[in-house]
Amino acid sequence: MNDFSFSMPTQVVFGRGVTDRTGAELASRGLGRALVVYGQGSVVRTGTLDRVLASLDAAGIAHSEFGGARPNPSLAHAREGIEAARAFEADVILAVGGGSVIDTAKGIALGVPYDGDVWDLYTHAAEPVAGGKPTVACVLTIPAAGSEASASSVLTNDETLLKKGLSTELNRPVVSIMDPELTFTLPAYQTAAGITDMCAHILERFFSTSGPVPVTDELDCGLIRAIVDEAPRVLDDPTCYDARANLMWAGTLAHNDLAGCGRGVDGKRAGGWESHGMEHELSAHDPKIAHGAGLAVIMPAWMRYVWQSAPERFLTLGARVFDIEPVDVVEDCIDATPEEAIEDAVLATIDELQAFFCSLGMPRTLGELGVTADDIDALLETLEINKGAEFGQIQRLTMADARAIYESCL
Ligand code: NZQ
Ligand code: ZN
Repeated sequence: MNDFSFSMPTQVVFGRGVTDRTGAELASRGLGRALVVYGQGSVVRTGTLDRVLASLDAAGIAHSEFGGARPNPSLAHAREGIEAARAFEADVILAVGGGSVIDTAKGIALGVPYDGDVWDLYTHAAEPVAGGKPTVACVLTIPAAGSEASASSVLTNDETLLKKGLSTELNRPVVSIMDPELTFTLPAYQTAAGITDMCAHILERFFSTSGPVPVTDELDCGLIRAIVDEAPRVLDDPTCYDARANLMWAGTLAHNDLAGCGRGVDGKRAGGWESHGMEHELSAHDPKIAHGAGLAVIMPAWMRYVWQSAPERFLTLGARVFDIEPVDVVEDCIDATPEEAIEDAVLATIDELQAFFCSLGMPRTLGELGVTADDIDALLETLEINKGAEFGQIQRLTMADARAIYESCL
């Protein structure tokens, strides 16, 4: 097990009706001026925004609203938010929405105390200013990105088509209000994309070069098993509170870094994040592509390409999540080699994972996302800028490898 440092500074306030406690939670932290960031209108239509604003009023918190964050949020919008936050002298940026809204709020909070362009922070041309920034808080409406407790914020620069994540402990929200009832209104497709994303957050960490870490492995496989069990329940009954609640909690645990403890190298987040890297190019070039839907296509394709570099990790996943074991070729008198039995078990595991994503309504091919062979050159161009000529962990990938992976799932 590798050394690690883990802290989860975000206070999670979880359960039925906690939305109405938002104002009190902020006031108890001495916060008094909230810039309320939201997306393209779901929280207006569902009444969530009104409930949050009422709770701010009841707690005596002044507020100003800043809506319009799109899925796969843009840098330009965050820049506008920075101006709005400065003008309002906000001491807290309160996100009411999903990952796109929370990431916009994080970008705004980092941008307010920084004199230059906030994009400098995402390109690492400058370091975030510690101290003096407004705090981030959120009311989560979709379990997916895990931004409600993660150290990351992801924005897209539409001028360069670069989608970049910025990881800093400064990004962790001070408090996340998690009311599973708010997710009853999620469309099935968004529910499914969120479920896929949370599985991917666990698996990116699981497939690291650091070998087995039994405690973390059990945690990861247990989380995925619970997600696989709960997913069909919410699709059958979108208002099933317990299934919604379990998925919401799983989404947070998938990405607050607990799922990688002991597998990170040199204090870095565990895993190579290959599928996220390749997916981010899809949703940067076409923001209509839901991040989770892109992952549903890319992650199995990546797995099929690299499994031979870490077959034992795939066997662990198969055994613990899907009850798939290689057949014993000697005992069962099977006409195959042990290597072929391992290959069969690994490929069955990948098939099973992909079948799970597809059973939720997620795509199997890039074509279903509107991506064609003609788009691959452009994807590789920005991928190389973001990731360098080689990237990945269990198997280093060149741009030629990335091309082969994209081509394998057209
Ligand atoms: O914009 P509105 O109208 O609010 O609608 C949203 C949006 O269309 C809708 N929605 C959200 N809650 C709803 C709802 N509709 C009905 N009822 C509700 N309760 O769902 C759509 C998707 O929302 P979005 O916030 O985009 O989803 P998600 O949480 O998946 O966030 C995706 C973004 O997060 C980034 C992704 O790359 C993408 O940009 N990620 C952020 C990470 C992080 N900060 O740690 C890690 C992830 O790996 C990911 O990269
Ligand atoms: Zn993700």
